[in-house]
Amino acid sequence: MYRTCQESDMRDDADSIRAIQWSGDSLRLLDQRDLPADVNYLELADARSVAAAIRDMVVRGAPAIGITAAYGVVLAARQRYAESPQDWLALLEGDISLLAAARPTAVNLVWALQRMQRCAAGKTGDPVPVLLAEARQIHAEDIDANRQMGAHGAALIDADSSVLTYCNTGSLATGGYGTALGVIRSAWQAGKLQQVYASETRPWLQGSRLTAWELTRDRIPVTLITDNAAGYLMQNRRVQWVITGADRVTANGDVINKIGTLNLAVICRHYGIGFMVVAPCSTLDFSLDSGALVDIEQRAAEEVLSLGTRRIAAQGATAWNPAFDITPAELVDCLVTERGVIMAPDRAKLAVLKSD
Ligand code: MRU
Repeated sequence: MYRTCQESDMRDDADSIRAIQWSGDSLRLLDQRDLPADVNYLELADARSVAAAIRDMVVRGAPAIGITAAYGVVLAARQRYAESPQDWLALLEGDISLLAAARPTAVNLVWALQRMQRCAAGKTGDPVPVLLAEARQIHAEDIDANRQMGAHGAALIDADSSVLTYCNTGSLATGGYGTALGVIRSAWQAGKLQQVYASETRPWLQGSRLTAWELTRDRIPVTLITDNAAGYLMQNRRVQWVITGADRVTANGDVINKIGTLNLAVICRHYGIGFMVVAPCSTLDFSLDSGALVDIEQRAAEEVLSLGTRRIAAQGATAWNPAFDITPAELVDCLVTERGVIMAPDRAKLAVLKSD
């Protein structure tokens, strides 16, 4: 199903990674399961492989899976148009449903697919050029939004600050630059940061495997902590901000993000440490009233019972493995989007973004 090929297409020093690449007539994805040990790209040629890559965590992170799915629609349209120049649009619907079902929680996936669907609607003739242009546009807009959020978020950070981040929200999780990690990149470039702490993020270790790989590669020093060291870190006032991304923000401002985000928000409030959420408008979901309505992905118990391929839990133990949690809006000090900063986000303040 997958073909491997070598890494290429690097960017500037402060933002050197592009995990999603369109190369001529196929999609290249940096296989995030192999990082940091190996940098391998997979080459995908059809929607089924793209859906599998999203489901299997080859690519992960809310904006990144949306962009990947958009390119998946291009591959599907090429195949369906070759099969049937008359009925390709109807056939494409099945591919879009397959892609949408790959992971349930990040709204960016459905957001990108709906945008591709609108682009495809009513097209006659070969749909590939126009759909490819739309996918590239979604990709470019994401990087642009990240750069804007980087500037907005960094402006909130005082000189000589230290920050803690969670999961991976960087170039690997987006089109490039990152959301929360974009703010950290911008603050670092502005000379404001003393120290960047990254939490390991069990069970997939996005913090120690991916965030640490990205930051060290872009020469931003990073200090890892275990997830359960966060409370002590904050009790000792070693950070002024905890900065995370989001997979979905509902109409009332609740934030759905990597399991463990809720713990950090509660500890932040207890110790008076700022809790900043950084997410593009493609992550806002005004169709759901609150976080309680979001489909939280449950993943295999095996991910908790094992570390990599090695079983670490006692034989006979079972595990509960929700991939995301829901942080109530009242625990969020500020929400940074590409359109600016919302302090103490709530339903009324978020609604302004809807009407823009
Ligand atoms: O399960 P993952 O690795 O896809 O989870 C990713 C996260 O929770 C990120 O924090 C979120 O997508 C924001 S990334 C810009």
